[in-house]
Amino acid sequence: MQKELKITLNTKKPIAFFDSGVGGLTVYSKLKKILPNENYIYFGDTKHMPYGEKTPDELLFYSKKILDFFIQQNAKAVVMACNTTSSVIYEKIKDKYPFEIYPIVQIACKKLAELNFSKIGILATNATVNSNVYKKEIKKYNPNIEVIQIACPEWVKIVESNKINEPDSKNKIKEKVDEIMLHKPDALVLGCTHYPYLTDIIKNFSNNHLLIDPAVYFVEYIKNNLQEKQLLEDAKGEEKFYVSSNPEGFKQSARMFYGLKELPIVTLQD
Ligand code: DGL
Repeated sequence: MQKELKITLNTKKPIAFFDSGVGGLTVYSKLKKILPNENYIYFGDTKHMPYGEKTPDELLFYSKKILDFFIQQNAKAVVMACNTTSSVIYEKIKDKYPFEIYPIVQIACKKLAELNFSKIGILATNATVNSNVYKKEIKKYNPNIEVIQIACPEWVKIVESNKINEPDSKNKIKEKVDEIMLHKPDALVLGCTHYPYLTDIIKNFSNNHLLIDPAVYFVEYIKNNLQEKQLLEDAKGEEKFYVSSNPEGFKQSARMFYGLKELPIVTLQD
């Protein structure tokens, strides 16, 4: 009797990440730590940074281009390592692609709502705050939690221009932290993936125990979900980085923040 021959294609498709710049590396580094053998692609849209100051139409346009690029790259899943696009455009595109798209805000809020806080402070970009998605998502799961949101539009530029330790930057950070601390929150969420780079400074002006990086919950969810969908692979752990402009600037920041070694960074033109 002829045996049925089953061929399983092990394609080693990458998990793709995107953000406006180096911010998403704060998420990427956490997922890579728990899934070191996956192949990865990272796209930093440095040409259009900061996303927090863009209109919903602009964000939709840039994100579609990146997602189309990920189709060409055969991505098996996409991580929106960007609070701004998760808040503003995720709902519009979530069912339109052949891969699962993971949005940081919606996934993290479910967990935040379970943590028994009574007043959560959200530090985020203008676009994220204006969307009110943090507030809506947390309240969807727990209407008793009060949610305070403060936009910190200067902070992404401070990170991307490597000016974290300049006195003027510290003043700008203190101003916003002081503003949110007046509300006496019992948790302070870093609602932009660039902000974890500012953790030490924010802690100095607030309270050590308050800070929450939502990426911690986000990456755990992604790992479990990929596992459930049987999408995890024992690949080589290859990583490829793409930017839309200024590869040298990205390399410099990525080296400093993420410990990125000499890796080829490919610049994509429009
Ligand atoms: N890091 C992104 C976020 O989490 C985008 C920040 C920006 O470019 O304004 O929102």
